[in-house]
Parts: sequence; C-alpha cells; structure tokens
Amino acid sequence: MQLLPLTFDCVSKKYGQRTVLDELSFTVNRGEFLSIVGNSGIGKSTIIRLLLRIEKPTNGMISYSSYHGDSGLNIESLDKNSLQQYRRSIGVVFQDCKLIPGKTVFENVAFVLEACGFPDHAVVADTKAALEKIGILHLQDHQPNQLSGGEAQRVALARAIAHKPQLILADEPTGHLDRDNAAIVLKNLLTINMDGTAVILFTHNEPLTKMAGQRVINL
Ligand SMILES: Nc1ncnc2c1ncn2[C@@H]1O[C@H](COP(=O)(O)OP(=O)(O)O)[C@@H](O)[C@H]1O
Ligand SMILES: [Mg+2]
Repeated sequence: MQLLPLTFDCVSKKYGQRTVLDELSFTVNRGEFLSIVGNSGIGKSTIIRLLLRIEKPTNGMISYSSYHGDSGLNIESLDKNSLQQYRRSIGVVFQDCKLIPGKTVFENVAFVLEACGFPDHAVVADTKAALEKIGILHLQDHQPNQLSGGEAQRVALARAIAHKPQLILADEPTGHLDRDNAAIVLKNLLTINMDGTAVILFTHNEPLTKMAGQRVINL
C-alpha cells in the first residue's frame, strides 16, 4: 500500500455545536517532515484521530494516493482489511509513551511486531534495528520503570518505527520532557525522516518547530 501523499481536503470536525476543525486542508508528501503547531485544545489530537479513522470528519475528505496514482482514495471507503493495512502504514507516538510495565524495552518493541504477525527472526532483527536507529540498544533489557522520561519516549519512538511505517504521527512527543531531552527526541524524529519516513510532529511548542527547520502549519 502506498500511503502518501495523504490529503486533508476542507476537513471540518464538530463536537455538538462546537467546531474544532474548520475546513482544514493540507497534504503530507512522501518523505516529508511537517510540524503542525497550535495551543492546547486547538484540535491536534483530533487530526490524529481523524487520520487513524478512529473518528470521521463532519465535512470534507481525507484521502491517500492509491498505488496506481489516481486522484486518491477516501479513507472512509476502506474495508476492514484495507483499513488494517492503512493503519499499519502509520506509526504513532503519544506524549504519554504507554510502555507496558513488566516487559523489557526489547519486549515492548517486539510485542508490536508479534501482533502484526511477523516471523520470529524478523521480530528480533527489526526490534534490534529500531532500537539501534534510535540509539537505545544498550537499554534493551531495562524495565520501563528504570527509564528516564526521555529514554521512555525514545522507546516509544523505536516501537513506532519498528514495523517500518511510511508515516509517523508524533502527538506532543516532547510534552513531558526538558529541553535537552526534547532536542534528542526531535533529533531522532529528523533521523527517522532522513531515512525516507514522513513525519508529522504535533506540538504546542513553537520553538521546537523552529528547531526542526521544516514546513510548519499553524492551526
Ligand atoms: N469526543 C469529544 N467530544 C467533545 N469534545 C471533544 C472530544 N474530543 C475532543 N474534544 C474537544 O475538541 C477540542 C480539541 O481537542 P484536541 O484535538 O484534543 O486538542 P489538542 O490535541 O490540540 O490539545 C478540545 O476543546 C476538546 O475538548
Ligand atoms: Mg492533544
């Protein structure tokens, strides 16, 4: 499945009478790094829920490029199997890293690959590769409660990239971190992007988007 470009076309989202997103349009292209910045409550996580089709737009359309390169497929039209494939093309990182307690760092990352049905040798190889890319292979036997906030967030990043998605959605990934650790996580995101994975960084932290030095959409 070729996921990108992925387009929001005049997407609006209302909760009751309240309009959260009002005719939002943007495209994320293959290999692009895009920052979406805006204050808390403006609708960043809503965009992620719409992208993952956990929720549907009130108006407008979200579409992705089909393999054959026509005008794009509406994600609302995906059947169950295609939706699963679509979601697997996306990796997500949250502010709260949601690591599983009682599982090591290695197991936390491997778990996702096992759930995707990867064979054992691929689970091991891809888990190691992801930890290595993020620079945390030395933490592989640690338990989540032995990690600093920055380290835990980097494990969440490794977990998000392990199945080699085409797009990473990072929802306030540095929200709980000090400036130095935020810079490390940003650097990891930029490294992931340099390998050809598209990244959307959602944040209220405008200086961070300046540090990223890439395209910014201000909500
Ligand atoms: N299920 C929901 N029902 C009603 N209002 C919601 C729901 N989800 C989010 N909202 C509201 O939508 C607005 C945007 O939320 P959100 O996307 O989480 O913002 P952000 O991630 O930018 O902080 C907030 O005011 C929030 O209260
Ligand atoms: Mg949010």
